[in-house]
Amino acid sequence: MNLKETLLKNGQEHLIPLIEREGSGKLRAQLSAVDWKTVGLWKHPDDLSGKGRIAPIGGLRLPEIERRRKEYEALGADLIRAGKLAAVLLAGGQGTRLGSGAPKGMYDIGLTRPVYIFGRLIENLREVTDRVGAFVPLLVMTSEKTDGATRSFLREHGYFGYPERYIRFFVQETAPCVDFGGKLLLDEDGGLALSPNGNGGWYASMKRAGADRDFPSVEWYNVFGVDNVLQRIADPVFLGAVAEKGCGCGAKVVCKSRPEERVGVLCLEDGKPSVIEYYEISPEQAAERDEKGELKYLYGAILNYLFRADILARIAGERMPVHIVKKKIPYLNAEGVFVKPERENGYKFETLILDMVRFAGSCLPFEVEREREFAPVKNQTGVDSVETARALLQKNGVVL
Ligand code: UTP
Repeated sequence: MNLKETLLKNGQEHLIPLIEREGSGKLRAQLSAVDWKTVGLWKHPDDLSGKGRIAPIGGLRLPEIERRRKEYEALGADLIRAGKLAAVLLAGGQGTRLGSGAPKGMYDIGLTRPVYIFGRLIENLREVTDRVGAFVPLLVMTSEKTDGATRSFLREHGYFGYPERYIRFFVQETAPCVDFGGKLLLDEDGGLALSPNGNGGWYASMKRAGADRDFPSVEWYNVFGVDNVLQRIADPVFLGAVAEKGCGCGAKVVCKSRPEERVGVLCLEDGKPSVIEYYEISPEQAAERDEKGELKYLYGAILNYLFRADILARIAGERMPVHIVKKKIPYLNAEGVFVKPERENGYKFETLILDMVRFAGSCLPFEVEREREFAPVKNQTGVDSVETARALLQKNGVVL
């Protein structure tokens, strides 16, 4: 089938005049690489990943962690000193809700001095590496949208004191975006509007780029999001606990503050550990309580996971569910004007790291203190915002 027929078959006839124009080589090449099966999923935006039967999961709670802290910490520190842990920073997202235009890690959350998010994260990592006496490889996933700016920013800031030889970058893949009618959108330059394909592809992208090859002793990956400015990275207590329990995966969780809190919930799905999104659990189920009065679906995942390398290698071939996410997508309209929409205008296609938990088979929910470890920066104001994160940083003694 030639390209024109493919476009017709997939409802993209609006692009035919464009590929017939002179100088359409880039667009033609991009269209030839489109995964039409994924793009066709826009028709079922509500038919997410077909959730199974969910049930509450038991986890490691703070009192138990406190009781065994020394033992877990010693085990985790030994693993770090043996070079068995790498940290993976997910920094490929576009942070559209924050809307700063630059990669989120470059955001300055300071008030009287610059306090960059990347700087905060590396400072937290350095606290551990100083204490343990060994560096942890830091693998940074970027996307086409964030790669250049992230690399030069970190270079200009001397990697915030972290040794460059322990840092590797790799770039994740992109996916095309469509409007609410499933039509592929165009970017400013007349090529396809492409966006990072979600944080679920981190392992495949890391392997493809060979970013892990220089650290062959690594047996564990601590994968974390860029936007939690209280994120504790390479936490030896977490690592020690997950290793001691013989789990292939662990997730840092906070106890949900209220049933409707918008965090993914770690629970059992058809008997296996799984993180389900807040919109995939019914309000009634989210509000269920046990005999002690605690929420049954208590554990909110904070995007800080441990995965054992052998588990990752085993699940690498799994086809991850594709989430169809409504976003504001800048696009070139039919008149050739580049529009930055005020409201959501289309879908992006993303795979999510939380779906890897289900494939892993075992996962230890590891409770952390919300006020000490969870300050996400998603929005400018309101919930999970620059304002709330600043207040939490100050509570933790960080001078802003
Ligand atoms: P979010 O789900 O908050 O998405 O990412 P986002 O794109 O950064 O922000 P919004 O939704 O547009 O406002 C959670 C984490 O996953 C990373 C982000 O950088 C963040 O650390 N991420 C997200 C990627 O690395 N790649 C992606 O394609 C998406």
